Amino acid sequence: MGLLTRKSLLCLFLMTSVVFILSWFFVLRWTGPHHSVDFTTLPNSKLFALAYNEDSDEYSVMSASKDKEEEEATWNKHSKNCDPIKKILKVFMYDLPPEFHFELLGWKAEGKNFWPDIRAEVPEYPGGLNLQHSIEYWLTLDLLNSEFAENLSGRSAMRVHNSSEADVLFVPFFSSICYNRFSKLNPNQKKSTNYLLQEKLVKFLMSQEEWNKSGGRDHIIVAHHPNSLLDARTKLWPAIYILSDFGRYPPTVANIEKDVIAPYRHVIRSFVDDSSDFDSRPTLLYFQGALYRKDGGIIRQELFYMLKDETDVHFSFGNVKKDGIKQATKGMHSSKFCLNIAGDTPSSNRLFDAIVSHCIPVIISDDIELPYEDVLDYSEFCIFVRTSDALKKNFLINLIRSIGKEEWTRKWKRLKEVENFYEFRYPSKDNDAVQMIWQAVSRKVPAIKRKLYRARRFSRTIVSRQGEVMSVDIPRNFW
Ligand SMILES: *[C@@H]1O[C@H](CO)[C@@H](O)[C@H](O)[C@H]1NC(C)=O
Ligand SMILES: *[C@@H]1O[C@H](CO)[C@@H](O)[C@H](O)[C@H]1NC(C)=O
Ligand SMILES: *[C@@H]1O[C@H](CO)[C@@H](O)[C@H](O)[C@H]1NC(C)=O
Repeated sequence: MGLLTRKSLLCLFLMTSVVFILSWFFVLRWTGPHHSVDFTTLPNSKLFALAYNEDSDEYSVMSASKDKEEEEATWNKHSKNCDPIKKILKVFMYDLPPEFHFELLGWKAEGKNFWPDIRAEVPEYPGGLNLQHSIEYWLTLDLLNSEFAENLSGRSAMRVHNSSEADVLFVPFFSSICYNRFSKLNPNQKKSTNYLLQEKLVKFLMSQEEWNKSGGRDHIIVAHHPNSLLDARTKLWPAIYILSDFGRYPPTVANIEKDVIAPYRHVIRSFVDDSSDFDSRPTLLYFQGALYRKDGGIIRQELFYMLKDETDVHFSFGNVKKDGIKQATKGMHSSKFCLNIAGDTPSSNRLFDAIVSHCIPVIISDDIELPYEDVLDYSEFCIFVRTSDALKKNFLINLIRSIGKEEWTRKWKRLKEVENFYEFRYPSKDNDAVQMIWQAVSRKVPAIKRKLYRARRFSRTIVSRQGEVMSVDIPRNFW
């Protein structure tokens, strides 16, 4: 008892001191002249404010200037020169044998080349629904292309060939297409190519000095299809995974602190020159998808029964097939709201199809993770409904009907502003999905560095002058 009281008194004392010191700090800091920076007046203030807190010396230019206008001008000039968002991520890419990447697309390596000469020819990714998980392909192409770029404007990442100069190490394994295309056993196989390649990959990485140095923490592995990397994920988990959601991962293997959520590549055509408005989109609410009867999917059936008699609601089951994509394009382009209901995984390409169709997404998926949510407020262009609410009688339809033209138009405009964040392109352009993913990876770098340096506190590693590691002793299980 006495011990407890003493402990809690000590605790109270410590907390009070911390609060006191902090408040003193703020008083000193904020009473000084011209030290405040009004981020809200700056363009894209939220993005900047968030991206800036690592780099405190960037503020100094602004705090010295006389008034807000001047501040803003300085800022704009300054941010063009060394915009921290544009601080380029240095990526080392392993020269994995082509069987791990472009050969899975049907490309044949010539001689000793690991990589296609993308100036001559860019291998194509198999189309259709395969494309929705093609993230690894676009990121790899972008790294290859960074070597031929005339200048680095608009670029968030570049390839470096010396791993000790790199911020992160990229593992170019095309895991999603490997799962989609090579999971089946060939007649003469005991194990599938998908399984064998993962086994090889684990072996390869474990034998790399770079992996040893960091325990894999600074490695980037893309596994966007929920079933891709199924065998290797529990072995390679210290790495940063680029995923679609965490639905099929235990939280120790993948989580939002460590990993990066990437959008699906939309399969529906973007709505170019969209001059539609609230009144010209006849369908109120649109949903087309598979019917799942297990896990979170049960809600689809419930909603179907609730909505089937509403005349301006399109709600039907059936997977998107060839003609289906055409129909879904038409459907989403002519609807005000598009439903995204959790299926057998929390995420799906439907959300991104809705975004590029400028159809306000209505998200009913309690465990969904959204790309770049640390810099992007999805409530500005989406509507979120808890599953428990959606199952209440008339809740959903009343909510949707209560949203008027003004609010809808505001969200629609915002959709048109953000849609570029979800476009995968080669060559990639300013702030498209490829660049946004690299930026999301960049934001993980300080945390990785902290983990690595903390892990080194008690290791007796001798680092020689040339940066060569003589012996490595990093504790492996401190997460
Ligand atoms: C860099 O390239 C972009 C196009 O990729 C171009 O618009 C820009 O003017 C170039 N900047 C310089 C300094 O050459
Ligand atoms: C790689 O970079 C490190 C640190 O900058 C340097 O010491 C080393 O010599 C470089 N290695 C090669 C092969 O250039
Ligand atoms: C990596 O570390 C393990 C043990 O920690 C060691 O057995 C192995 O030889 C090391 N590999 C390389 C390439 O340094």
